[in-house]
Amino acid sequence: MNILGIETSCDETSAAVLSDGTVRSNVVSSQRCHTDFGGVVPELASREHERLIVSIVEAAITEANIAKNDLDVIAATAGPGLIGAVMVGLCFAEGLAWALGKPFVPVNHVEAHIFSPFISDEPGHKSPDGDFVSLTVSGGHTLLSVVRQTLEYEVIGRTIDDAAGEAFDKTGKMLGLGYPAGPEIDRLASNGDPKFHRFPRALTSSSQTSKSYRGNFDFSFSGLKTSVRTWLSRHEPDYAKQHLADLAASIQAAIVSVLVEKTIAAALLHKVSAVSIAGGVSANSGLRTAMQTACDKHDLDLFIPKATYSTDNAAMIATMAQLMMERDRYRENTYGIAPFARFSAAGKGAR
Ligand code: KG4
Ligand code: ZN
Repeated sequence: MNILGIETSCDETSAAVLSDGTVRSNVVSSQRCHTDFGGVVPELASREHERLIVSIVEAAITEANIAKNDLDVIAATAGPGLIGAVMVGLCFAEGLAWALGKPFVPVNHVEAHIFSPFISDEPGHKSPDGDFVSLTVSGGHTLLSVVRQTLEYEVIGRTIDDAAGEAFDKTGKMLGLGYPAGPEIDRLASNGDPKFHRFPRALTSSSQTSKSYRGNFDFSFSGLKTSVRTWLSRHEPDYAKQHLADLAASIQAAIVSVLVEKTIAAALLHKVSAVSIAGGVSANSGLRTAMQTACDKHDLDLFIPKATYSTDNAAMIATMAQLMMERDRYRENTYGIAPFARFSAAGKGAR
């Protein structure tokens, strides 16, 4: 079975082909037009998707060495995301499915991130075979979920203000870095001192009245933002510049320690034997290393998609469609689905 996946929810235009569960191609074009604006400009994103969608889909099909008519299923992100951006991929995918007379599967972008440990591009790929705790951290979402093989999942924690990726991007912007700042902070942090300044770690065990995590796996990153702003206002710009790497390392340490602490606590409380991290921030090398160390300590298996499958990509959309079809969570010919902007924490599982 050949599934074409299409992803256009934010600033990546992507198409992928999955053949019998294995990724044959995954073409991703990251939009550069937003760099000077310090964030994604929705209107520009939609226009760029429209400009690129045909050539990206064509490239994915060519790379997979198949013809359009060999496609059995067309899948696309239906949300959450920027509505105009989502609509470009969704309309294109529906139109293509209709023209080819093939089934169309709408996919929830966040669910595709949650289930991204199942993306396989080589024989013997190992994915979770029991319940696991997923930390899904991107520019728009920070979710902690308990995930089951049936594709059901329960969201047990989420951010009450900024997403983890936003925490990287917004503090990075204060340091004068371009958008998105996450990868740049990651790079700078490798040469910096994470103990240079202790930025706040909100809603962690020491900052909560109860020592127990029961009932509170939520995240908050707005205090970190304020704290970085305050630090910068109290120090000379030259001094901050000299210590750019130290500041990056200290910011990264604050974000990473909260993410790791809560994920491990959730895994222990829910008695799962595996943890996964997904979404753009899971590309962060500090997070990867710290989570691996913590998982080793608690004898938990850790699943992290390859970096190309951590940030937005269409392989995860095609994989999610495959899982939905295998597990009977898909309605035949779901044409006319309304694109949606927000992730409603239904948490009841993929449709
Ligand atoms: O999943 P994603 O590609 O798009 C969304 O759905 O939001 O995530 C993008 C986010 C951005 O905030 C970006 O700064 C962050 O992921 N990111 C990183 C790294 N690579 C991407 N943050 C920290 N370290 C990285 N290496
Ligand atoms: Zn994403």
